[in-house]
Amino acid sequence: MSLFGEVESLISEAKGFSASSKEELEQFRLRFLGKKGVLNDFFARLKEVEPTERKAFGQLVNELKQAAEEKVALFREQLEEQVVADTAIDPTLPGNPVLAGSRHPIMIVRNQMLSIFNRMGFSIAYGPEMEDDFHNFTALNFPPEHPARDMQDTFFIDDNPDQTLYNGPLTLRTHTTSVQVRVMEKLKPPFRAVSPGRVYRNEAISARAHCFFHQVDGFYVDEKVSFADLKQTLLTFAKEMFGADTAIRLRPSYFPFTEPSAEVDISCTLCGGKGCNVCKYTGWLEILGCGMIDPNVLENCNIDSNKYSGFAFGMGVERVVMLKYGIKDLRILSENDVRFLSSFRGKEE
Ligand code: DAH
Repeated sequence: MSLFGEVESLISEAKGFSASSKEELEQFRLRFLGKKGVLNDFFARLKEVEPTERKAFGQLVNELKQAAEEKVALFREQLEEQVVADTAIDPTLPGNPVLAGSRHPIMIVRNQMLSIFNRMGFSIAYGPEMEDDFHNFTALNFPPEHPARDMQDTFFIDDNPDQTLYNGPLTLRTHTTSVQVRVMEKLKPPFRAVSPGRVYRNEAISARAHCFFHQVDGFYVDEKVSFADLKQTLLTFAKEMFGADTAIRLRPSYFPFTEPSAEVDISCTLCGGKGCNVCKYTGWLEILGCGMIDPNVLENCNIDSNKYSGFAFGMGVERVVMLKYGIKDLRILSENDVRFLSSFRGKEE
């Protein structure tokens, strides 16, 4: 066959080519357009052609090149589309379950607490975690020499980033009772609110203590708020939180910001009051502190203590989490161990 004939038969072969796989197409490309392919071969053999026929031969070889290139481009596109089609989503198939995260047990319990008080008409108030001496201590009737103000218990901060929010030396708040002051100095009674949040104390970290933990404080200020209101509110809370059979017991106590003050125990959630090792065989578990807001505190927040009275209470969230889930070492709550955290999947409130 003449060189011309060879090229012509390859042109018709190229034009008739179709590829059903990427491999097949690649073979075709290499055979025609590759470095050692027929095209390069023909270009190399140009000198074998009579000089007068070289132009026509060159054109013919170019025609072959174009035919091969067109096929490569065409099937490359078609095969790509096929890949997309093969992996396209079938909306009729059942979906793959997406593993959702889980709420942290502290947040589960905190939300339960908030929701119970919310249903009793308490709104939710937030305050800053960085707090000045006035809101954390002074307005709450802590005397200047009170040991809680000591460096041993409180984290101090040197900078004051916001002069409009803070006055005086800055600390990390040691309790969420500070939010009570922030609300009272802004609002006119009557009001009732619960304030959840993180608090900080300069304690050695152990199974039972951490340098940060969570509290929920609550307060209610109106005319004629009485200790009976406080007691009934806390009893309702205890029954909602720990079960309808739960009893409460109030023991006299002392806080600078309440007078009178009490500590509240609930009947043991494990043994129901019979005595077990969780309640140290007393039948009772201490759960919160409370009292009638000291008139000095009301006055410090410009509320007329002759006209208004109020109650307040505060509790630790971790303590309830530990009771509820039988956790013995508090540190697991801040270690972010996924094995622990994922065991709360589906338990969120
Ligand atoms: N702030 C107290 C603490 O951190 C708890 C507390 C007790 C809060 C009595 C109150 C209260 O609002 O009335 O130990």
